[in-house]
Amino acid sequence: MCGIVGFIGQKDSKEILLKGLEKLEYRGYDSAGIAVMNDEGVHVFKEKGRIATLREAVDQRLFATAGIGHTRWATHGVPSKVNAHPHQATSERFTLVHNGVIENYTQLKDEYLQNVELKSDTDTEVVVQVLEQFVKQGLEVEEAFRKTLSLLKGSYAIAMLDEQNSETIYVAKNKSPLLVGLGDTFNVVASDAMAMLQVTDQYIELMDKEIVIVKKESVTIKNLAGETINRDPYTAELDASDIEKGTYPHYMLKEIDEQPLVMRKIVQEYQSDNGTLTIDPCIVEAMKGADRIYIIAAGTSYHAGLVGKQFIEKMAHIPVEVHISSEFSYNMPLLSEKPLFIFISQSGETADSRAVLVHVKEMGHKAITITNVPGSTLSREADYTLLLHAGPEIAVASTKAYTAQLAVLAILAYVTAESKGIMVGMDLVKELGIIANSMEALCDDKEVMEAIAWEYFTTTRNCFFIGRAMDFFVGLEGALKLKEISYIQAEGFAGGELKHGTIALIEEGTPVIALATQEHVNLSIRGNVKEVVARGAHPCIISMKGLETEEDRYVLPAVNEMLTPLISVIPLQLISYYAALHRDCDVDKPRNLAKSVTVE
Ligand code: G6P
Repeated sequence: MCGIVGFIGQKDSKEILLKGLEKLEYRGYDSAGIAVMNDEGVHVFKEKGRIATLREAVDQRLFATAGIGHTRWATHGVPSKVNAHPHQATSERFTLVHNGVIENYTQLKDEYLQNVELKSDTDTEVVVQVLEQFVKQGLEVEEAFRKTLSLLKGSYAIAMLDEQNSETIYVAKNKSPLLVGLGDTFNVVASDAMAMLQVTDQYIELMDKEIVIVKKESVTIKNLAGETINRDPYTAELDASDIEKGTYPHYMLKEIDEQPLVMRKIVQEYQSDNGTLTIDPCIVEAMKGADRIYIIAAGTSYHAGLVGKQFIEKMAHIPVEVHISSEFSYNMPLLSEKPLFIFISQSGETADSRAVLVHVKEMGHKAITITNVPGSTLSREADYTLLLHAGPEIAVASTKAYTAQLAVLAILAYVTAESKGIMVGMDLVKELGIIANSMEALCDDKEVMEAIAWEYFTTTRNCFFIGRAMDFFVGLEGALKLKEISYIQAEGFAGGELKHGTIALIEEGTPVIALATQEHVNLSIRGNVKEVVARGAHPCIISMKGLETEEDRYVLPAVNEMLTPLISVIPLQLISYYAALHRDCDVDKPRNLAKSVTVE
């Protein structure tokens, strides 16, 4: 969701900015723009739609050594060229890009901009216009920048150019992610290290309410009081090839195929020298000290949390509640005496989850973040982090991060159980090895999944996923995948719940995907399938070796029953992928969605 890049140095900035924005496309956006600055002034190019359209609009003859760029995911005002960033103050002296939401922008407008005609509907334009007012009143630019920031309520990551100072990019951050990258004869700004990996792997993290004066040969971090802060850079451990599609037509397919590899990597990362699974002892102690665990997450990560609850309760015998992050603040449960919070987030940036983290930290509780992105906001702000080691996930629809979340949650539950002296009754290293092999077999069966997609989803309007026990949670994830990328209305239900209302929607030919991987509910779920078939549904039963019957459309290899979600989700990911493909949808960048949702 929204991305920022910036460059200042001795090279031409246009192409670096455009390439950077392309690397941020995965976050989701609906318009894009760049502003480049040279001795003649600032030149702004912006367009609704894709970066490719912006690229065509940029005047290639221009040579400019400084610039800022932005991908916008509309929050205030429709996606349009006018609302796209960068935004300029009336005099066109100041040009600014912004991520986040300025909650008090109408108040600022009323108080400071009575006589200013705004061009766009955005909260962002208000920021640059207010700053210009302060400069007109006689403040130095940096002082005006600081004063403007001190008035903002909400979240922001900002990069700004001043036409009268082609040597500087003004940068600031609060609650929205932003990094400064260091080069030999240049420096850069980026929402995500991935965007500027083309020129540097050295980055400095910024903390909330800091401002940065970025010049081609220096980077000065200050707090809002103007005091200078020293901070060492870190090396972004990303392999540029990890973020390329290679020969794959889509990132999503590549990421689905990477799942066996990710499983092996996770085992390796969490294995000690003697081959046993291990987790930071402080985390295990925090788990053991809790009388109740609260898992907080959104989207796919929430679905992983539902499965994680089963792992932790069944293996480690600690009660767990799973909450949707955006609801937690209003529907906060009565907390136990010794709560422990686990935040699950692929990106580590989801604003809804971060709001809960800030709240529970204020209450003095401990928190663990399970994330794929080291150094992300949720990781930095929690007491402990468990990494997913899944490698960058670029497709908006999460696949390998989901199975990585399940594997890490299983390891967390298992190691905690062992430390409590509970006999879990399985060798998790061995079981995850079997899972990785089974995933490989499933990824090799793509033609079957493609055929299912053809058979069930070329014309249908809707689809239901049903399952019981673990299969229910995977059904929820299967439904989310299908709707995210193919726009087919899909819902997941507990097998027994369908008849309490939703069965009214079953018509002749309605696809119903039923998961049947759990022995103790196998007969019941098959009973539910019969109920929908009797009303005309077109069923697709996905079962597990040992439980299969002749009516099943696909039989998964046998794995430990508790761990089935790790493999039963793969056919659902692939079916969704092919359904989206057949419907000509933009698989990696579905409409209206963002990968990293940095606004609440
Ligand atoms: C967005 C993405 C989803 C993701 C959710 C939570 O809505 O489109 O795919 O599951 O955010 O993201 P997180 O990074 O916190 O796991």
